[in-house]
Amino acid sequence: MVLKKEIHTKREGFSSSIGVIAAVLGSAVGLGNIWKFPYVTGANGGAAFILVYLLCVALVGLPVMLSEHLIGRHTKANAVGAFKALQPRRPWLLVGGAGVLSAFLIMAFYTTVAGWIYAYIFKAAGGALISAKPEDTFGVFNSLISGVGEPLFWQWLVLLVIGTIIMAGVTKGIERVTKLLMPLLFILLLVIDIRSLTLPGAGEGLAFLFKPDFSKITFSVVLAALGLAFFKLSVGMGAMITYGSYVDKNENLPKMAIKVALADTLVSLMAGIAIFPAVFALGFEPNQGAKLLFVIIPAVFNSMPFGRVFMVLFFMLTAVAATGAMLSLLEVPIAYLTEQYRWTRRKATLLTILAIGLLGSTATLSNSVFANVIVFGKTFFDLFDFTTSNILLPVGGIFVALFVGWQWGYAKVKREMSNEGRLKNDGLVRIYMFLVKFIVPIAIVIVLLAGLNLINPIISFFKDISI
Ligand code: PHE
Repeated sequence: MVLKKEIHTKREGFSSSIGVIAAVLGSAVGLGNIWKFPYVTGANGGAAFILVYLLCVALVGLPVMLSEHLIGRHTKANAVGAFKALQPRRPWLLVGGAGVLSAFLIMAFYTTVAGWIYAYIFKAAGGALISAKPEDTFGVFNSLISGVGEPLFWQWLVLLVIGTIIMAGVTKGIERVTKLLMPLLFILLLVIDIRSLTLPGAGEGLAFLFKPDFSKITFSVVLAALGLAFFKLSVGMGAMITYGSYVDKNENLPKMAIKVALADTLVSLMAGIAIFPAVFALGFEPNQGAKLLFVIIPAVFNSMPFGRVFMVLFFMLTAVAATGAMLSLLEVPIAYLTEQYRWTRRKATLLTILAIGLLGSTATLSNSVFANVIVFGKTFFDLFDFTTSNILLPVGGIFVALFVGWQWGYAKVKREMSNEGRLKNDGLVRIYMFLVKFIVPIAIVIVLLAGLNLINPIISFFKDISI
């Protein structure tokens, strides 16, 4: 037996297999399922988009997730440290560095939306959202996001909450919170699904979700699906390397990744079923963008008995799901700063939170103070969202896949994936290697170039050169 060199001798880890899955799922499930999946689906035409999304999850997102878990568990290090350990003095560590940057940018707008969710708990409890008419709930939402002090207050409160949990440490903080409340969110989504599906006129919403119209699929739609898959599964930026580094050597990694991807997709679909039948039943348009959740869900609750109580509970659980996801985002720069620069956890957390708060404030104020500041055709909020999901994460995914497929080597990958030969999963290793060597990088490159409209300029560039 080969003795694996421990890179960091004393490292906290997750204490049980259930704890690991709960934490990884806690990272995946978040605003991506409940806020982003429905609104991006609505904006991109419904069922056909969902099919493309499912393909992106299975063929690209899942292999990249497994790759990150393998790298993380093998090296027991943070996103940058992991690449450094495997390939010292090679530029691969830039992949980890880009991940740390992505974590910052995602946090900048994620904390804005999480702040809206926190605010909605109190608005729901206080009775500000008791109307079954989307126009009324839209008014409440609009006045929240176009304010200055109010949304900033909630965003900074969110930062305070996650900063406190992060400082409590990995096992104690993350594991305990996520394990407890995920099942409850699932049950509540089921309740809303039933209500939404029994509203008169709900059928049209179901057709929107499940009857594909492929004429709506363009390359920019495919890019949106790919970006969503990365964002959803928390991959392409090192969060899963960092979490993988806390996983025990006996865990069956491929099985875990498949379970997480399935459960995560189920939650997204349930959120879709909660929202779209109601969208159509209430005579609302599905392509309303980021406000969809905040306008439709209160209206659904208001059409059911005990709606107000359920509504408060729903936003509380969504806040918990969002918090679990943010913990994993924050863990990327924190693990990097504490391990590479030997900062204390406290110092790393405080400074990171402060930096995110400052950058994130520009996202929060995108609907007020900075509404007219447009960079590359987008507000700060949209810019952070678009560049991370649709560019940085997929590019990160290309390199993670290329690294495992072409650099790390078949024998070593096989050893890590089979737990040093204890798991008999030869066939799976072969399929996985084929995906990360060829399918994942090629598919991402094509979708990125075509989705960003870069193919024609590139062709004409080469034509010019050859002349
Ligand atoms: N997957 C999370 C969500 O869906 C967001 C996230 C992205 C978390 C990247 C960590 C890393 O809400």
